Amino acid sequence: MSSLPIGIIGTGAYLPETVLTNQYLEKLVDTSDQWIRERTGIRERRVASPEEDVATMGEAAARQALENSGIAWEDLDYLIAASNTFNYMYPATAIRIQHGLGLDDKLAAFDLQAGCSGFNYALYVAENMIKNKGGYALVIGTDANTRMLDFTDRGTCILFGDGAGAVVIGPTDRSRLVASFVASSYNGKLYLKNEFTELNSPFLPKPALTGNFMYMDGPEIFKFAVRAVQESLRRILAQAGMSREEIDFLIIHQANYRILETGARFAKMPMEKVYVNVDRYGNTSAASIPIALHEALIEGKIQKNHKVVLISFGAGVTWAATVLEWLS
Ligand code: UT7
Repeated sequence: MSSLPIGIIGTGAYLPETVLTNQYLEKLVDTSDQWIRERTGIRERRVASPEEDVATMGEAAARQALENSGIAWEDLDYLIAASNTFNYMYPATAIRIQHGLGLDDKLAAFDLQAGCSGFNYALYVAENMIKNKGGYALVIGTDANTRMLDFTDRGTCILFGDGAGAVVIGPTDRSRLVASFVASSYNGKLYLKNEFTELNSPFLPKPALTGNFMYMDGPEIFKFAVRAVQESLRRILAQAGMSREEIDFLIIHQANYRILETGARFAKMPMEKVYVNVDRYGNTSAASIPIALHEALIEGKIQKNHKVVLISFGAGVTWAATVLEWLS
């Protein structure tokens, strides 16, 4: 096995072309551009076209990550797709992406569902697989949230958007995964769920036809999210043996600008070190962290020797963090 550290070698992102503005949402529900900006910081988000879905978006992000990594595609051993809005239970979104990339038979692909923390979870799994067995992995976060929203519910439909992000990880001198943890907990008070409606089983009572929409208790999720940011930073710094002053940049799950701001304040980190693109894309769930990481690298916000923390939280509930050192 390689003596190089395991790190992120290349990144990619894909955002659908169609822009959904706050002004358009004003036509659908009783809301206003001003309310959405003040309470969430979101100006617009993207919507996948009828021809697109989590697999096509994930594939586009994966192609870019592979190109940026410079590794030979045949060297990939694993492909993990983190998503909450897959079209099919099977074939897995990951296997559809594998097929789209022309890598049938060449690697093992599987899905992972952990709410908006899915990308951090997938990164954690891939890193440990590579530590044990060697090789390279594609880790993708992809979500088509607008397919799961109730566009008559102003509490949820204003928040979410569609998109995908991807990274290639493996032995490299470009970056180093320093520390990571994943965590989860059932909390009966917190409410963010999407129920499958079983229509055809002769063994179950016939359910009402409600559609598989997302429901949530916004204010409760907000409180959970800001505490998750604070606790995640405390825990990951302790694990990495680092102080907050050593952290150059923070990528927090882009759910709401006020969550970024309050979470950063609770975690005693200045907003100048926090990446923000929630204004342009809204909450893209499992895609949010890899899209933000890709953009932060392109914009030169992450530079050589920077130590970066990726913090996510999401439905389930789940939370997770990773410390990454950018080496070159
Ligand atoms: O990945 C995690 C996913 N989930 C989240 O990140 C959600 C976290 N929570 C939030 O971001 C916020 O709780 C929301 C943005 C969802 C809501 O903001 P809030 O400041 O917590 O508002 P609220 O739910 O406490 O509602 C305040 C008022 C209510 O009206 P009344 O009862 O005071 O008359 C709501 O009905 O705002 C009303 N309201 C709206 N008004 C205009 C709720 N949504 C809207 C809306 N437009 N879209």
